[in-house]
Amino acid sequence: IIHDSSAAAAAALAQEVKELITSRAAKKKTAVLGLATGSTPVSFYRELIRLHREEGLSFKNVVTFNLDEYYGLTPEHPESYHRFMCDQLFDHIDIPKENIHLPSGLVPSDQVFEHCRAYEEMIDAAGGVDFQILGIGRTGHIGFNEPGSSRESLTRRITLDRITRQDAAADFRGEENVPRFAITMGVSTILRAKKIVLMAWGENKAGVVTKAVEGPVTDAVSASFLQEHAEARFFIDKGAAREL
Ligand code: GLP
Repeated sequence: IIHDSSAAAAAALAQEVKELITSRAAKKKTAVLGLATGSTPVSFYRELIRLHREEGLSFKNVVTFNLDEYYGLTPEHPESYHRFMCDQLFDHIDIPKENIHLPSGLVPSDQVFEHCRAYEEMIDAAGGVDFQILGIGRTGHIGFNEPGSSRESLTRRITLDRITRQDAAADFRGEENVPRFAITMGVSTILRAKKIVLMAWGENKAGVVTKAVEGPVTDAVSASFLQEHAEARFFIDKGAAREL
């Protein structure tokens, strides 16, 4: 879906999520959201905050699972995804703290496998993700599923691609400060979501968006696996649609 602007796309997406949350609340049920970080979803989160403040949208029945976290960062670290989510969304809405889930960046090496398995189990125990929000990295990754991530991959620790670390270098004031590993939901974890929307803005995403949408389904571009999901859509602006 090619929107006139990223703002229009973010507003349309927020409206859909609002409808999901309110229809579930009417039935006294939870809405389970899969959330992403990066600059792309910021306008969407801002719109959710606006709906909370101006239209009284409550997040009391919302349960969230984030895609990923840098390995080795404390939740308080300025570049951690914990911190990002609190700053950009959670601190501004009425979601109960116990409903928020992110992989831990601090789990000791010998407990990573168990931590990741528990994360998968928590998603399933919550009833699965109803609505998964995604961005896309320059390597075609969703979450941190770098090239080579298989269709069957689950939540696990992954080595970050050089390109991904270069893209994060400015935020960390130098590539040498960017963590080498992350914990991410797998491709298979993401594809279990009932509905998926991937957002991408601007011409610098045009190449990778085209590969993901029109290219072969391949583990070289993990977003291409979305082609096999019955309810996956791309919300993009004109810049990101340029090479389609
Ligand atoms: C990171 C995140 C991804 C995100 C990507 C793109 O790698 N782990 O979830 O999609 O960055 O970031 P941006 O939205 O800033 O372009």
